[in-house]
Amino acid sequence: MDVNFWNTQNTPFLCLAPLAGISDSATRQICKKFGADILYTEMISADALFYNSKKTLQMLKISKKEHPVVVQLFGKNPETFKKAAKICCEYGFDGIDINFGCPARKVVSHGGGVFLMKDFDKSRKIVENVITNSSIPVSIKIRTGISDILAIDFLKNLEDLPISAIMVHGRTYEQKFSGEIDYNTISEIREYFSSSNTKIIANGGIFTPENAKKVLDNTGVSGLGIARGIYGKPYIFKQIKDFLKKGKYSEFDISDIKKLIKLHSKVLFKTKPERARYEIRKYLLWYTKGIPNIKELRNEMTSVNSISDINKLLKKF
Ligand SMILES: Cc1cc2nc3c(=O)[nH]c(=O)nc-3n(C[C@H](O)[C@H](O)[C@H](O)COP(=O)(O)O)c2cc1C
Repeated sequence: MDVNFWNTQNTPFLCLAPLAGISDSATRQICKKFGADILYTEMISADALFYNSKKTLQMLKISKKEHPVVVQLFGKNPETFKKAAKICCEYGFDGIDINFGCPARKVVSHGGGVFLMKDFDKSRKIVENVITNSSIPVSIKIRTGISDILAIDFLKNLEDLPISAIMVHGRTYEQKFSGEIDYNTISEIREYFSSSNTKIIANGGIFTPENAKKVLDNTGVSGLGIARGIYGKPYIFKQIKDFLKKGKYSEFDISDIKKLIKLHSKVLFKTKPERARYEIRKYLLWYTKGIPNIKELRNEMTSVNSISDINKLLKKF
């Protein structure tokens, strides 16, 4: 049996892309329920794992309902990735992903994230250290470029290493998070790896099933990574699958959204009892965005403290 879950996916497969502060266990479980095939955690600091940070170790807890689930590591010191990779294997993840795409100041100011795409030696050492110290498949997430470095040159420096999948955010560092994604570069990468077993995943700007189809048609990749498209719509995965299969999909109505809110609240309060009452508020606002005539209820959502507060609000819908 193939133990590498990347090789057993039907194509095109749909991934929940890593989202710091969002793709926690609760969000992952909800996305899985609505059709996500592969779940990425939010980025986890390799340095923090190296130093056994309790708070970071807490972020590694996964539920049985999440598999296959990929933990994403970020950092800049190749040495800390060795121990971090070992810890991730012990926690039962199915894969380890390495972040070469994050543009956040707190990550790049230390030379991590997308800035590693400029340092071929260090990035290679990081990938080697993760591969050597883990028993599970290793993937990477990159951007299409940074300053004068092109994704394809960055990847050529790693091409002899057994990398199972590459998620390409189709924008450069300079483009940050907006603008149309670069289909040509993603296609070029897909073509370059076509004779290997490495899966190429396109990411960026997928907010509707129509966007998803357009990205697949224009790139021919094996999978898609969806990040902000899940805001208020974790069921986008099911919609995309329906659209690709039948050419149509349905929207959630208010009663579906109420059920979804109940489910997300239940899972979040179970998985993060100490933080849930704060964190659920942003999800409530996302889930109810665009529903007419509930301005006051939306205001009340910013101060809920418990599942019973949420249930009371839902009755007023
Ligand atoms: C709030 C937020 C948090 C993110 N956190 C991560 C992260 O932890 N690791 C990572 O590789 N990318 C992260 N990203 C980038 C996304 O995974 C994705 O590449 C980017 O948002 C483009 O996809 P989209 O247009 O579907 O949102 C984050 C993006 C956002 C908006």
